[in-house]
Amino acid sequence: MESDAWVLETLRRYEPATMHTQHPVVWDHASGSRVFAQDGRSWIDWTSGILTANAGHGRAEVVDAITSQAQQGLLHAYMFPTRVRARTVRALSQLSGFAQSVLYTTGAEAVEGALKISSRYALAQRAARSRPSVVVTFDGSFHGRTLGAQLAGGLPAQRDWAPTLDDVFVNVPYPARDQAWSTDVIEEALREVGARPEDVSCVMGEIYQGSTLRQIDPVSARSLREWCSKHGALLIFDEIQSGFGRTGRLFAYEHVGVRPDLLLVAKGLSGSLPISAVLIGDPAFTEDVRPGELTSTHSGNPISLAAAEANLALFADGTLVAEAARRGQQLADGLADWVSLLPQRRRIIGTMGMIAGVACTHQDGTLDPASSKRLAAECIERGLLVCVPSTMGGAMLKIMPPVTTSEDDLAEALARFSAAADAVQRG
Ligand SMILES: Cc1ncc(COP(=O)(O)O)c(C=O)c1O
Repeated sequence: MESDAWVLETLRRYEPATMHTQHPVVWDHASGSRVFAQDGRSWIDWTSGILTANAGHGRAEVVDAITSQAQQGLLHAYMFPTRVRARTVRALSQLSGFAQSVLYTTGAEAVEGALKISSRYALAQRAARSRPSVVVTFDGSFHGRTLGAQLAGGLPAQRDWAPTLDDVFVNVPYPARDQAWSTDVIEEALREVGARPEDVSCVMGEIYQGSTLRQIDPVSARSLREWCSKHGALLIFDEIQSGFGRTGRLFAYEHVGVRPDLLLVAKGLSGSLPISAVLIGDPAFTEDVRPGELTSTHSGNPISLAAAEANLALFADGTLVAEAARRGQQLADGLADWVSLLPQRRRIIGTMGMIAGVACTHQDGTLDPASSKRLAAECIERGLLVCVPSTMGGAMLKIMPPVTTSEDDLAEALARFSAAADAVQRG
């Protein structure tokens, strides 16, 4: 079999350098909360393959479902009806309480689908009005890497390549927890581009922002809900990364008690193969979408659906999510202890269940990306797989273990993390 060195060299040669953003650990296989190299080395995983393997890597239930679907002899079916498709959309509605869903392949595709549904709905509701398609989103938000999703995002560095549509995608300050915020900021931003509240087709946001780990304020979330209902705009929560137990609830919006009209899910939906969905609160929202306008070649691929169906069953009785909440507390307590050992050089950016962000800081409290990067390397050296996203200038180490990580594995991971930080800070 090819060596790790061969893999790295071949990828370096046949892929652009921009693709190689993570530490060069060559994954051979993964199981539960661990990732393994070909030579038997292993890491406790704090990435979940970027928030996907929530229920653990390589779950036997999911592998069996994929295998038996493949053996049934149906690898692809386009938009034709299949049994696995019917069972999965029913399971998704039964679990989430949303009436219907539209299936896609990636998160960004679900974002684009939700923008289209909102725009079609607004156009139908307000036929007499001139421009009912303004999309309101928040600074610091991330919604994916296709054109619409990047324009919707609020990370300037990620949209500076794209054509400017600043009067369609209106970006306003994020209603972060414990910060003064009111829906006036939306109306002000609309005035600046010559639009009115009734021109808005949707407001899309994250319950916690993947890029900054700021969390939405419950009171602001409620006023956002009221503002959307008052003006006939759909409220969309992008839970592509926060869904399926990640925050200690099935969906993160449960923390704020505000229900969106459309809920976007992906990553943890199958915990493995690419599949995403727009969950729809009211079938009326799609009544005016023309036939075929939401379809896609691989949406509802039978193999991905088999994985999703098996994975959804793991969440059905609520025990996995309840356990995730307990592990999240253990993670938060462990990180608080870690900070208290050297508060002038360590910072918690945010925690919510089994997601956390930490950073190294200089003595004066400013972020120290070089040390955070060294910390990641020291963790990996000690058998703890971590990931440093490019957002926040590469200063934040993002912690996102499978939510099924055992108490012992999490304790061991925290010990390795602390030892790695000590090594960095000893110089
Ligand atoms: C909140 C959020 N929205 C959308 C996306 C895009 O998903 P995908 O990479 O599957 O297109 C991501 C991916 O990280 C995300 O975190």
